[in-house]
Amino acid sequence: MIEFYDREEEIKEIMRILGTTPNLITFVYGPINSGKTTLFQHLIRTLPEDYRVFYISLRHIYVSKADDFLKVLFDVRNKRASVKTIAKEIVETYVPEGVLTPFGRIPIPKNVFRELFRESRMENVFVYLESLLGEVAKRKRPVLVLDELQKLGDVKINGLLIYELFNFFVGLTKESHIAHVFVITSDSLFIEKVFNEAMLHGRCRYLLIDDFDYDTTVSFLKKHNFDEKEIELTWNYFGGKPVYLVEAVNNRHRLKEFCEENLKLRYSQILDTIYEIEENRKLFDKIIELFKTISEKEVMRYAKIDDALKFCIRKNILFLEPVNRIVKPQSRLDLLAIRQILKEIG
Ligand SMILES: Nc1ncnc2c1ncn2[C@@H]1O[C@H](COP(=O)(O)OP(=O)(O)OP(=O)(O)O)[C@@H](O)[C@H]1O
Ligand SMILES: [Mg+2]
Repeated sequence: MIEFYDREEEIKEIMRILGTTPNLITFVYGPINSGKTTLFQHLIRTLPEDYRVFYISLRHIYVSKADDFLKVLFDVRNKRASVKTIAKEIVETYVPEGVLTPFGRIPIPKNVFRELFRESRMENVFVYLESLLGEVAKRKRPVLVLDELQKLGDVKINGLLIYELFNFFVGLTKESHIAHVFVITSDSLFIEKVFNEAMLHGRCRYLLIDDFDYDTTVSFLKKHNFDEKEIELTWNYFGGKPVYLVEAVNNRHRLKEFCEENLKLRYSQILDTIYEIEENRKLFDKIIELFKTISEKEVMRYAKIDDALKFCIRKNILFLEPVNRIVKPQSRLDLLAIRQILKEIG
């Protein structure tokens, strides 16, 4: 098991945010597998005693209606209780792992939950959450972390659930200053939507968790006894993508093979993806043009998100960073795969 590495700057920034009065929603974004979830899980385990964290991940669930969402959000308690009792329990229980309940869910007494369920009205859910977090905030600092929130996608309850949820988060932060709210995602199209949502202007801050930079990658690999040559090879294939670096360490005895296997795999996946739309010749050609630009520039400023760009983003070949208006391959491996595809069919 490879231990958590670095992220000093990012941790410093998150701790700075946590030290202030909640005022803005923090939108945490970055390319796939850059280590967002790992960073938050690590941080949550090491937070001082005065924080109470609810870490809710939508990764492993399928949300198609309100009930599904309520089930991940809440940990239903088998007894009747008041909001005050539940809040008191949260305040008085401290676990060093950082989250109090299974999967970080928010405790709720069965009777209250039944009521909310019967009516399935988000307003009631928000009233409960706000009063609970408000009670907790009198003595501790509540923190809500929602990982993979884009999975709520188009779920409708009265209006769009995601819209109502963000509205609620604005209330928790900027209006009542009760809780810190972190929303994590690597879905570029979702990031772009949030970024351009008028309701969120001036109410969100954006925190990019990118792959490791060159220096961090080198020191990570050195720590695992890689020599100069091995470091160069690994950086050349994977850049600073943590998930691959960890795997490279695990496959050090067959590093070259491991690198080539992964490139072959990514090449084949991207090729299949673009052949899916081959009949749409116009789109296909535009994607090849886009690949040529990316292959040459590696990082590209975009003007508008056309259908070719949208396709590559949706298929997780490219990552879109709306704050700096740039597009780049999801990883160094994707860049190499794109170059190989161009060599063969460009
Ligand atoms: N700081 C780190 N130190 C050591 N290993 C790391 C670190 N960050 C990430 N990893 C490795 O990379 C893997 C992927 O990271 P993680 O799942 O946190 O990425 P993510 O950005 O949340 O991905 P996704 O975009 O799928 O949500 C982890 O399982 C872990 O092996
Ligand atoms: Mg994640």
